[in-house]
Amino acid sequence: MNRKSLDPETLDAVAAHLREARRILFITGAGISADSGLSTYRGQGGLYNDTVTDEGFPIEEAVSGPMFQKRPDITWKYLSMMSEGTRGATFNDGHRVLAEMEHDPAVGEVWVLTQNVDGFHRAAGSENVIEIHGNSRELHCTVCPWETHVESYGEITALPPRCPECDAVVRPRVVLFEEMLPEAATKRLFVEQARGFDMVFSIGTSSLFPYIVQPVLDAHRKGAPTVEINPDQTDLSDIVTYKLASGARDALTALWQHFGAQR
Ligand code: OAD
Repeated sequence: MNRKSLDPETLDAVAAHLREARRILFITGAGISADSGLSTYRGQGGLYNDTVTDEGFPIEEAVSGPMFQKRPDITWKYLSMMSEGTRGATFNDGHRVLAEMEHDPAVGEVWVLTQNVDGFHRAAGSENVIEIHGNSRELHCTVCPWETHVESYGEITALPPRCPECDAVVRPRVVLFEEMLPEAATKRLFVEQARGFDMVFSIGTSSLFPYIVQPVLDAHRKGAPTVEINPDQTDLSDIVTYKLASGARDALTALWQHFGAQR
């Protein structure tokens, strides 16, 4: 069964599963922050749609690990441009609902696996968060232990920014293209996956990476309910138990209301 709309019957069914599940994983991507006004990477208005940069590289190459090694100024230029659109933005009710679920004794153990680097889940109050692509507001020196937190890259005047302690290049704690995933986040994901989830949501992601798709497929294989929240179709849309074809904020708010009404 794969239900397609945000109708009350579907929301009741998903809410009932949520009530029964002991461990729930919410996988999130740029779509949940689109409701805070941020651009997604792909699709309508996507950051990667203008594929060639001023320097003649595809954007993915400009924001890659090898480019950062050779020309950190170029990588920083595009990271700054991408972050410009996030200035002044904050979490929305979709993020807030996930934080409330985590702290509500009527809901099982909640984990968020996010590809987003905006830090909105933690800002909204979620604590069990695996930031698998890092956090763009955390900066660190590439040589010495110096690190800092910034609210936006607007505070940075010269590119690439340099360490106040040793003058080496500073970088954000994010995963650039062709780089490894952060070790601590990967280990945490491995441990939590091994403990198992009995309900998995995929929210606002085009689901391109194996570590993002696998938890959904694992849940599906063992017969656990899976839910996709995305107004568009992805490769997971026909696999999940429930497809809520809607924006993340609206779907999560409606689901939380239905959950509350069943108390
Ligand atoms: P994408 O931009 O690839 O996909 C965003 C998804 O969100 C699409 O499937 C949209 O249909 C959906 N969407 C749009 N608006 C939505 C809304 N209001 N509510 C719910 N869904 C909505 O973003 P990600 O899948 O997150 O990696 O991209 C994955 C990774 O690719 C990013 O983390 C980034 C990028 O390369 C790194 O930087 C390492």
